[in-house]
Formats: sequence, C-alpha cells, structure tokens
Amino acid sequence: MARRALITGITGQDGSYLAEHLISEGYEVWGLIRGQANPRVSKLPKDVHLVRGDLLDQGSLISAVEKVRPDEVYNLGAISFVPMSWEQAELTAEVTGMGVLRMLEAIRVCSSRGGEIRFYQASSSEMFGQVRETPQTEVTPFHPRSPYGVAKTYGHFLTQNYRESYGMYAVSGILFNHESPRRGAEFVTRKVSLGVARIKLGMASELRLGNLEARRDWGYAGDYVRAMHLMLQAPNPEDFVIGTGRTQSVRELVEAAFTAAGLDWERYVIADQALHRPAEVDLLCADPKKARMQLGWEPTVPFEELIAMMVESDLRLLSEGGDPQDSSWP
Ligand code: GDD
Repeated sequence: MARRALITGITGQDGSYLAEHLISEGYEVWGLIRGQANPRVSKLPKDVHLVRGDLLDQGSLISAVEKVRPDEVYNLGAISFVPMSWEQAELTAEVTGMGVLRMLEAIRVCSSRGGEIRFYQASSSEMFGQVRETPQTEVTPFHPRSPYGVAKTYGHFLTQNYRESYGMYAVSGILFNHESPRRGAEFVTRKVSLGVARIKLGMASELRLGNLEARRDWGYAGDYVRAMHLMLQAPNPEDFVIGTGRTQSVRELVEAAFTAAGLDWERYVIADQALHRPAEVDLLCADPKKARMQLGWEPTVPFEELIAMMVESDLRLLSEGGDPQDSSWP
C-alpha cells in the first residue's frame, strides 16, 4: 500500500514542491486546507487529496489525522513573513508556535490507537537570530530576533520535547532561506526578481528595498523538500541544519538579479530606511555537514543560477500578463 503523507501549508512554496516530490516517490498525499476558497488550491497537482483543518483548531487537527491516518506529517503551515510577526505577534504565536503543539497533540492522541506517525517540523534559521557562531550547526544556541523567530523556537523545542517525553518520531529541519519562482512576492528574492522584471519590461522605474547589508544563506526550495523527506526516513529521529554553506548580502542578490537581466542595479534601487526591521538578523550561514554525512543530502542549484531562474520566470510571467499577487507562481 502507498505510504500516506499529510502536509500543512500545502499551498505555500514548500508545500507544493513537497507534494510533487512525495507523489513522485509513490506517496498518497493529503493537504490540510483552511478557509473556504483558497485560490492556490488550483495550483496543486491533481492527485493531491484535501482535508479541512486549521492549526488554530485542535479538534479539526485530530479529525484530520483520524481521517487521513498518515504515516508521515509535515508541518509547514505558519505565518512565515518575518515583518508581519511584529504587526500580529499574538496571531504568529498562535499559528507558528501553538500550531505545532496542536499538531503534536493530534498525532499523540491518534497514535495511541495504533501505528507510528512520523512528524516533521519546519524549524527555521531565524531561531539563530543574533548568531553566536558562524557557520551555524545543530548545536548553535538560539537568539531569535522577531516574534516569528521566538514562535519557531517554541515549536522547535516542543518537537524535541515530544520526542523525549513520548518517544515520538518527531524531528525538526532547521532550514535556511530557500527560494524559487514560487516564492511569495513579499520575500526579498522574489521582490527583487519581480522588481527587475517590471523595470526590464518598462512597467516600473525603481525598486525600494530595506537593509542591503543583511546576509543570508539562500538555496533552492526544490532541493530543501528532498531533505525534509530524507529526514523522516532516517533510522533515528534527529534534527538537521539544511543550507548551502554560502552566504550573500542583499546587495549581492540585487546585483546578481539586475545583471541577469542586463541592467545596472545602481540606477534603479533605492534603500529605504522605512523598510528596515525593528531588530535585524544580520548574518546567516549554514554548516550542512551533518545532513551531507547522514542523509547524503546536497544542494544542487548555486545562488547565481537560482536568482537567474527567478528573474527569467518573472520576465515570462509578466510579459504573458500574469499577476504575481493573484497566484504567486507561474
Ligand atoms: N522581505 C524583504 N523586503 N526583505 C528585505 C527587503 C525588502 O524590501 N530589503 C532588505 N531585506 C532583507 C531583510 O531585512 C532580511 O534581512 C533579508 O532581506 C531576507 O528577508 P526575507 O526574504 O523577508 O526573509 P527572512 O530571512 O526574513 O525569512 C525567511 O527565511 C527564514 C529562514 O531563515 C522566511 O522564509 C522565513 O519564514 C524563514 O523561516
């Protein structure tokens, strides 16, 4: 019988790639869908099954797990845009933090009726925040810098605690920034690739950005969902850092994106103090050695190629009249 996976956040960038990957591995894939009319559902592969539920509603999660009877649960659902977490700190704590507790409880209650359910938590490099060392590993201490980072840290420790308290197969992937043409338009890589495409096509004349000096370890989302799956196949439940081990500044990202379209970024980019965050994460850089050694995982798309792929995709999307706000990927 096909293995069954339940994914929260299935309509997001990672959820869609993970669904495709698991289907290609022969899984029966279920997505947890909240609300009534989510337009992004139409973007999912046709053979994804849907079940209603909400990370804010404990009963709905128990019902979803009871109905699907999954072998594996991937908890990717979250409020994931860091600046929004200052504006809606309580909601972020509820969805991104307490949502993990509710999902773990649903699994604990349903597994007591037989059968192991393996759990993957989408932890984040934002937990490292004001970093204590570089590169960051599985044992680097956390110092989150946003309500989002704090909520993710809660979910991370809770996942560890359920593993230790109940012997559950529950693991966290500490994923560094991962991008693709399906990235939401508010995140910096996509904001830049869309901005470049608009300028190239004569639809805009400038691009306003915040802190150009922040550094991130940017990889390709399609590679990172493979790591999620591999983590749940390991003989023992363990946490892993997933990243490329390379770091670039936002300025270097901008340069790469404009160069990919044959433009000089300095003519168009405006650094706007109003877009700076109340507390910034200055530098993130992964040490993915453990994932390479134990999972055999390697990133396959270098930074420059990733950015060029996103610029090309947005040039195509906009020249065909597509609306990135409507549906965030072509
Ligand atoms: N979004 C955005 N917009 N970021 C900007 C801008 C801008 O106009 N200008 C500069 N930046 C800087 C931010 O200050 C930040 O330092 C960096 O670009 C990256 O911002 P985002 O792309 O919004 O991502 P993030 O690093 O805050 O968080 C992402 O990665 C995490 C993993 O480390 C999100 O995907 C999180 O959900 C994820 O956990």
